[in-house]
This record gives sequence, structure tokens and C-alpha cells, in this order.
Amino acid sequence: MRNGIFHVAKEEGSDEVLGVACWLRPQRADQPPSWRDWFEDWRLWFNQIGMNLWYGRGGLNVKRYWIWKEAQSKAQSAVWTDPRGYYFLNIMVVVPKAQGRGIGRLMMETVTNQADAENMNCYLESSRDVPNMQIYECFGFKFAKELECDDDGTAIKLFAMVREPRAIPETN
Ligand SMILES: CC(C)(COP(=O)(O)OP(=O)(O)OC[C@H]1O[C@@H](n2cnc3c(N)ncnc32)[C@H](O)[C@@H]1OP(=O)(O)O)[C@@H](O)C(=O)NCCC(=O)NCCS
Repeated sequence: MRNGIFHVAKEEGSDEVLGVACWLRPQRADQPPSWRDWFEDWRLWFNQIGMNLWYGRGGLNVKRYWIWKEAQSKAQSAVWTDPRGYYFLNIMVVVPKAQGRGIGRLMMETVTNQADAENMNCYLESSRDVPNMQIYECFGFKFAKELECDDDGTAIKLFAMVREPRAIPETN
């Protein structure tokens, strides 16, 4: 996946991965995906098939993937009002032993600072309300909509949150 923004957190001098974040860049609502994005989507799709054939499916439940995509599409149509698009935090995780040390903030602010500089909104879907929503509120995200993903009675909830850009103080 080359059209995303990836950050990998490591301790200086060590190769141990402590956290990862993956963002999708804003996509204008009135513009079709670029050829590059289109090509990257298909490249990812073929790669995924290759991985499944080589390593096995790895427990991926395709039906549930599409249930999530449908709930996401409904939520985004209701919540995404800015036609310029949103920086979408697709994945952020810090390994348990390194949580609470500011790694999440470092990875988060690398992109939210850029969003502020460009006056752009950010968006995420939290898989848990407690404590994650409170953590994301520290970064300026606000709860926007609940997504329900229901697979014949087995349901989970996701919490869509939006962050508006913060004004950057002018320097004289
Ligand atoms: C959510 C997560 C990525 C945050 O990363 P982190 O490195 O632990 O976060 P930080 O140490 O940078 O803390 C960020 C802010 O959240 C606050 N915070 C951290 N843990 C908290 C908790 N359990 N409850 C409330 N606030 C919390 C911190 O005080 C900090 O705010 P501050 O800088 O204003 O003091 C990480 O905890 C995680 O990976 N959790 C499990 C996986 C997960 O749920 N991923 C997200 C899926 S939606």
C-alpha cells in the first residue's frame, strides 16, 4: 500500500517496533481517484491474493469486512461534510508495554500538525469507547457517529470521530 502515510515507532538504536500508524490521505469528494491510487488499490488486491495463497487466509472473514465497509460508507456520507476530504487514521496501535509513554501522541501529531497547517479535517473509527475515545479526545477528536456492524446478530460498535483543524498562531 503506497498511497497511505505510514509511521513506525522504534526506540533509538533498536529495531524493536513499538507502534505503527497508517493514515489515508484526503480524497476530494468531487474527484475520482487518481490513476496512481487506482493502480495501487489493484496492486494491493493482487498482493493480498498472493499472500492468502502463500500464507493462508489468516482468519480474515470477508463477509464481515464488507459489513464494516457498508457501515463505514453510511457513516462517512453522514459525517464527511468537507468536500476537500479527510485525513483518515486507518490504524494506530502501540504495543501494551510501551503504551502511555507518548508514542501515540508523537505518531498522531505528525499528521494532525500537517492537517492543521493545511486547514484539513481528520477522521477515525475507534474500536472501543473506553478508554480510546478519551485518548483521541486528547488529540482534539470529537465523537460524531456510532457504526453498528451486525453479522446476523453478532454485532460490534465502532465510534466515528472527527477532528477539526486547529488554528496555528500567527508569528510576526
Ligand atoms: C490508543 C493508543 C494507540 C494510544 O497510544 P499511547 O502511546 O498509549 O498514547 P500516549 O501515551 O501518547 O497518550 C496520549 C494521550 O492519551 C492519554 N491517555 C493514555 N492512556 C489513557 C487512558 N487509559 N485513559 C485516558 N487517557 C489516556 C494520555 O494522558 C495522553 O494525553 P496527554 O498527552 O494530554 O497527557 C494505544 O493505547 C493503543 O495501542 N491501545 C490499544 C490498541 C487500540 O485500541 N488501538 C486503536 C484502535 S481504535
